[in-house]
Amino acid sequence: MNIVILAAGQGKRMHSNLPKVLHPLAGKALVSHVIDTARGLAPQTICLVYGHAGEALRASIDAPDLVWVLQEPQLGTGHAVMQALPHLAAGGSTLVLYGDVPLVQAETLQRLLHAARDALAILTVNLPEPSGYGRIVRDAAGDVRRIVEQKDASVEERAIHEVNTGIVALPTENLADWLGRLSNDNAQREYYLTDIVGMAVAAGVPVRTAQAQAPWEVLGVNSKVQLAELERVAQRRTAERLLEQGVRLADPARIDVRGELVCGRDVFIDINCVFEGRVVLEEAVEIGPSCVLRNAHIGAGSRLAAFSHIDSAVVGPDGVIGPFARLRPGTELAAGVHVGNFVELKNSRFAAQSKANHLAYVGDAVVGSRVNIGAGTITCNYDGANKFQTVIEDDAFIGSDTQLVAPVTVGRGATLGAGTTLTRDAPPDTLTISRARQVSISGWKKPQKVKK
Ligand code: UD1
Ligand code: CA
Repeated sequence: MNIVILAAGQGKRMHSNLPKVLHPLAGKALVSHVIDTARGLAPQTICLVYGHAGEALRASIDAPDLVWVLQEPQLGTGHAVMQALPHLAAGGSTLVLYGDVPLVQAETLQRLLHAARDALAILTVNLPEPSGYGRIVRDAAGDVRRIVEQKDASVEERAIHEVNTGIVALPTENLADWLGRLSNDNAQREYYLTDIVGMAVAAGVPVRTAQAQAPWEVLGVNSKVQLAELERVAQRRTAERLLEQGVRLADPARIDVRGELVCGRDVFIDINCVFEGRVVLEEAVEIGPSCVLRNAHIGAGSRLAAFSHIDSAVVGPDGVIGPFARLRPGTELAAGVHVGNFVELKNSRFAAQSKANHLAYVGDAVVGSRVNIGAGTITCNYDGANKFQTVIEDDAFIGSDTQLVAPVTVGRGATLGAGTTLTRDAPPDTLTISRARQVSISGWKKPQKVKK
């Protein structure tokens, strides 16, 4: 089996410098949805017919299994498939898909391919508003006779609600003959792929149809309005899947998954959360409202309070995170770690039961178990040119408003007094403090306002 993906259209109505098929839907380029679905059908060949911005397309989606075919100029859908002809494996079926029709389901295409084993099979759908689409013209017996484009259709034909989705499958052996005989004698002066239907009928090759599950499956993206509509469809379907798996969503209309979200049992997700890349939420994880998680792994029983932002980080089991916590790339927290409000962690490991509960910055640090990091603590990890590591050993207590000037080590069980600026290692089980002795000056005069 061959798959030809048509993606040569310019997409003028997107009003964008980004090629149309590279616009993201649920975090993935439109055409990548189609390529992934195509791959799921295990074809021998996947041809991608492109016309514009070939370099931009290759930069984003190149893969060894894609055969790139340039169509220049673009003379219609039939002409586009013709360009792919020399690259197709002989025999079997050829399936035509579209780079801007992202949500077509593999199961539907399987049905279409089944119908196409000795026939031309057209994926159709009934639309209440068929305007703009090619109509499926059937005879009195209900057999398909031809497809007529809107611009070429008579008034009676325009009243037909069954439309051509554009997706077709047919025996590869007929393709060269039929495409070779296409003409552009029509309203748009284009070589219409749809004209092969009339040729199949004339040649006595059966023409069958398969129906899409729902219109959204075959909707194309020509504008930002349609892109936004399909995004909602994709998100609604993801939310339904999560609910069916047992995830509790505060509102299935207010979650956005732009990648892969894997959930254990009894996960709860509050409103307005965004998940990007691959995110794993283990059993009984609770995500508060308006959290953003990207490439994150959250251990069983952990709770993320509102507005927490987790990027390329791991939270161990029973973590208590946020509200307003920011875990940046390379953060790894073991079991029972608490990270409170306005705490930023970067490239830091925390062993079990350690806490940083109030406004702090910890970067490039290795933190032991049961460490308490006080409010206002900062690891000074950067000298303007290089980054350095801070090590805080088990059971250390870091007083509030401490600066740890890296590289520096706080020994096991050490205590740093509040306000310490640590520039040398702090010995274990010892109080280290660097602030000046407190003095009270009697007889000191408060400044007075100068009279003008
Ligand atoms: C086409 C069908 C129509 C169907 C509709 C569904 C034909 C003649 N008509 O019409 O029956 O109802 O799709 O949306 O096939 N493309 C190329 N190269 C070209 C022309 C198009 O790659 O030279 C690609 C476009 O990028 C686009 C797709 O083919 O993704 C459809 O092309 P378009 O011109 O939009 O076809 P329609 O007029 O919508
Ligand atoms: Ca179209």
